[in-house]
Amino acid sequence: MKFFVDTADTAEIQELEATGLLDGVTTNPSLIAKSGKDFKDVIAEICKITNGDVSAEVAATDFDTMIKEAQVLRAIANNVVIKLPLTFDGLKACKQLTSEGTKTNVTLCFSANQALLAAKAGATYISPFIGRLDDINLDGMELIREIRVIYDNYGFDTEILAASIRTANHVKDAAIIGADVVTVPPATLKSLVKHPLTDKGLDAFLSDWAKTGQSIL
Ligand code: G3P
Repeated sequence: MKFFVDTADTAEIQELEATGLLDGVTTNPSLIAKSGKDFKDVIAEICKITNGDVSAEVAATDFDTMIKEAQVLRAIANNVVIKLPLTFDGLKACKQLTSEGTKTNVTLCFSANQALLAAKAGATYISPFIGRLDDINLDGMELIREIRVIYDNYGFDTEILAASIRTANHVKDAAIIGADVVTVPPATLKSLVKHPLTDKGLDAFLSDWAKTGQSIL
């Protein structure tokens, strides 16, 4: 399973990249606005930090302008992935960009049929939003399950990029179902390592080690 971080905060990306566990970065217009930086500058900065895929989202809603924006964004770096909304114009743009060899991430997916359309459009990634479905009392994880079955039924290459991840359990459940990628906010990603028994056990080991008076180095 690939781990992407869902942020435009370059300090956080740098810190996670240093762990060697990061496979890429996703951004969206809200995260860009939160960063307070120029969109193209921040994407260029992120692409210097990581060689993994970096999703940059178009702002247009019509096909022609989406393609023009995609041309600008993909020129920033080789690892830019064009993020497109799940609309007919977005799917049409996905089909064209895919035929040109550009990687795509179709976003704002809330149904299995939408995911089926994105796969038919040749999307590199489909981004189903788990947390936002949970927010309206639907089962976000059930959507991941349905998409996995459909993609496996037909051998679609499109990777399931579980998005709108809010908890460590979302990561675990997406992994059990077989999502190809999770994109996770930095704090949630860091929380995956935490277990109280690990902390307690380490404290005990360190205290017993100190009693030996020994040193490894
Ligand atoms: O990047 C898309 C997605 O991960 C957004 O998450 O928490 O705003 O629903 P959230």
